[in-house]
Amino acid sequence: MAGNWKMYKTPAETHAFFEAFKPLVAQATHCEIVICPPFPDLHAAMKEAEGSNVAIGAQNLYWGKEGAVTGEVSGHMLQAIGCGYVIIAHSERRQYFGECEPDVVRKTQAALEYGLTPIVCVGERLEERESGRTEDVLGEMFEGGIAPLAPEQFAQIVIAYEPVWAIGTGKTATPQIAAEAHRFIRGKVSARFGDAAAGDVRILYGGSVKPDNVKGLMREEEIDGALVGGASLDPKSFAGVVNF
Ligand code: PGA
Repeated sequence: MAGNWKMYKTPAETHAFFEAFKPLVAQATHCEIVICPPFPDLHAAMKEAEGSNVAIGAQNLYWGKEGAVTGEVSGHMLQAIGCGYVIIAHSERRQYFGECEPDVVRKTQAALEYGLTPIVCVGERLEERESGRTEDVLGEMFEGGIAPLAPEQFAQIVIAYEPVWAIGTGKTATPQIAAEAHRFIRGKVSARFGDAAAGDVRILYGGSVKPDNVKGLMREEEIDGALVGGASLDPKSFAGVVNF
């Protein structure tokens, strides 16, 4: 269960969140819990999460180790502060910053090189779903961004299916719609990396997941977890998702 804070919270707010959140999920052993705060909060989050069952992830990385790349943060730096995960190609990065499949490959490989678990996002936009292109789009994202990975690299990634029309809109995909997309992605995994890899890979659903709809989603065998935006900002609501 991963929380994506997007561009919310200061270090002081990060501290307050963890104070309230940690006791609420202290008994949770059924899943990994990850919080992905903005870069300036990572240090505070790492300190707060120390000794707890909560891991910390970043929301983006650059593929080089270091260099003249103003405004970017590398996997090497994230590893050095003890980060364990990184979100790659979130739809907001694709939409506002033009991230595309070659970036996904470079970023995923860089994350793995520095010991970070990549959470690689794929998902169709509303007009793509409405014009019946969902599988084409997911297929292209898979072929361009994930299929080029070596099997041993693929074995270490987490995939997040996030239909863009469900992100921050309050419109959750029904469990059936989400499961259908997950099944399609798993089919692609099976064709490229084999049945065992398809069975093992964890596919998270993201898009308006909340305490009151998480149970139905998690009942679907295809759905292994959730990537949660809005509802991860409040300790009680994210704990409600974790402890579904
Ligand atoms: P949301 O965001 O839960 O606010 O819809 C999900 C995400 O963008 O990862």
